[in-house]
Amino acid sequence: MKIAVRYFTRGGNTKKLAEAVAAAVGVKAEPVSVPLEEDVDILFLGSSVYAYGVDDAVKVFIDGIQVRIGKVVSFSTAAIIKSTYKQVARLLAAKGIPFAAEEFACRGSFAMLHKGKPDAEDCKRAAEFAKRIVSEECAHEG
Ligand SMILES: Cc1cc2nc3c(=O)[nH]c(=O)nc-3n(C[C@H](O)[C@H](O)[C@H](O)COP(=O)(O)O)c2cc1C
Repeated sequence: MKIAVRYFTRGGNTKKLAEAVAAAVGVKAEPVSVPLEEDVDILFLGSSVYAYGVDDAVKVFIDGIQVRIGKVVSFSTAAIIKSTYKQVARLLAAKGIPFAAEEFACRGSFAMLHKGKPDAEDCKRAAEFAKRIVSEECAHEG
């Protein structure tokens, strides 16, 4: 099974999750500036929200996808909103790229809010989430 991890981060919060996810599924976490070069079964895509929107770099990445993707699994950090899922799903849907109903989301530190987040426990939960997604996909494939 081919798996890739891409993320966008400004302050490092989403990168922490990306590295936990990538280590759990045995691949390298790369920033969205690194395009996908080959088809993947699962793309774990990490993002966060800045003044209500995902960064343009995430939009550019999704728009530039040229390979076949089995499904995108979104993970995100945010300080106030629950997650970036709706925004990312909308961008993917516009490109006809399948995405999972499930996501991983947790708090990310911002100014005085949520100091230390995501923390080790968040990273552990993100890793467990990613492993479960992959093992369910393997079972599904038979
Ligand atoms: C300029 C700026 C604007 C932000 N706007 C929002 C927002 O509108 N809603 C929200 O939930 N979080 C907001 N945040 C918090 C970030 O989503 C949160 O800190 C996130 O974990 C940042 O991820 P990163 O460190 O990977 O860039 C904002 C953060 C920054 C720096």
